[in-house]
Amino acid sequence: MSFDVDNIFDKAASGSSLVKNRQALTIDYVPEKLPFRDEEAKTLAQVLSTVFKGARPSNLLLFGKPGTGKTAVAKNVVDRLQKKSNELKIDVTVIFINAKTAGSAYKVLYEVAEELGINKEQGKQVHFTGLSMGEATDRILQYIQKKKLHFILVVDEIDSLVDKSGDDILYNFTRANQRMGKGGFVTLIGISNSLTFKDKLDPRVRSSLSEEEVVFNPYTVNQLRQILQERSKLAFSDSAISDAAINLCAAMAGREHGDARKAIDLLRVAAELAEREGAPKVDENHVRAGQDRIEKDAPFVVVKNAPAHHKLVIIAVIKSKSGITGDVYDTYLALCKRAEQKQLTQRRVTQIISELELLGLVSTDIVNQGRYGRSQKIKITIPPTTISEALKEDSLASLID
Ligand SMILES: Nc1ncnc2c1ncn2[C@@H]1O[C@H](COP(=O)(O)OP(=O)(O)OP(=O)(O)O)[C@@H](O)[C@H]1O
Ligand SMILES: [Mg+2]
Repeated sequence: MSFDVDNIFDKAASGSSLVKNRQALTIDYVPEKLPFRDEEAKTLAQVLSTVFKGARPSNLLLFGKPGTGKTAVAKNVVDRLQKKSNELKIDVTVIFINAKTAGSAYKVLYEVAEELGINKEQGKQVHFTGLSMGEATDRILQYIQKKKLHFILVVDEIDSLVDKSGDDILYNFTRANQRMGKGGFVTLIGISNSLTFKDKLDPRVRSSLSEEEVVFNPYTVNQLRQILQERSKLAFSDSAISDAAINLCAAMAGREHGDARKAIDLLRVAAELAEREGAPKVDENHVRAGQDRIEKDAPFVVVKNAPAHHKLVIIAVIKSKSGITGDVYDTYLALCKRAEQKQLTQRRVTQIISELELLGLVSTDIVNQGRYGRSQKIKITIPPTTISEALKEDSLASLID
């Protein structure tokens, strides 16, 4: 036993690994080159280039399905913009925020204030905490006006902001320019993978946010293959992965819609499995085994990353005695109380149940309840241990017991 363990350590230490640059296979990695996204990058750059003429670039909405390169393209273009503005000594302030990671609208505002340096402005310590959302927004906009900032705010996963907090912030930011007068301005770039995102917006916000739009189409299998080939050159040691393995990754990831993240994830997991068994090369079998592992892990990841009320509904389904819709909703209301969460309407909860069903986490059945008529019975379809594992670090975990 200790021999095996030693062996594993020795192998790792001797550096004979298949992967030479592990970073290149992580989610956050943004490659220099983004093949097949020239048009999208060009449009974004063209819109933003107005800032070098001292004028306000149009607001912009980037949308498209997951893994189509929206975040990568936006980061890439914005980084270059920042570099160029330093080079040309033109003041442009760019902030890139992920609304989902930030968690709430207030946190988004807080992060913006932090990055602008409002929170610790010299001489007078501004206490951001304790301000209402409207006051916090005003504070930021006033600062931009006073400093005459040319301000570009990129909000990635912007739909999660609107789902949680409505579109008031967006309204205030897109309308800010009218009252800024000469000098400062705000350009808002929203990124969303929800194709119905725009429908959720107030028409006034919709039209100002999408002054310009860029749609990202899914990659074809062939495009995925070339993306993976490029990435493999960066990530793997020479001849550490077969072409057949790359082709299979592309084909598998392209099965539903051309999602480059899925393709790269699969590549990473396949490489881990190959390394673990000490194989000289990543081959097709590792890719197949990798796919199996990802599929097995999928429900875990979905539950872990689900929005709070989806989690509450899942817990309600587990805890409700009958699983009948009305009972689930009552249980949900009680859970919301305990968790101090605002209760959603029964209609919204029914929608959430349909979403969970689409994700394969619950199944529903129509049952006959004699003289009470027919009703819907909901069942969890994944093992309870998966759910408790996924919620382990969540503040809602205590509600399960
Ligand atoms: N054209 C490309 N060339 C190389 N890598 C790419 C390309 N497009 C996307 N990727 C890579 O695929 C992964 C997913 O891309 P990205 O995060 O930009 O997707 P997204 O459209 O923002 O997805 P989501 O809507 O889920 O946030 C990243 O690792 C990114 O570097
Ligand atoms: Mg993204």
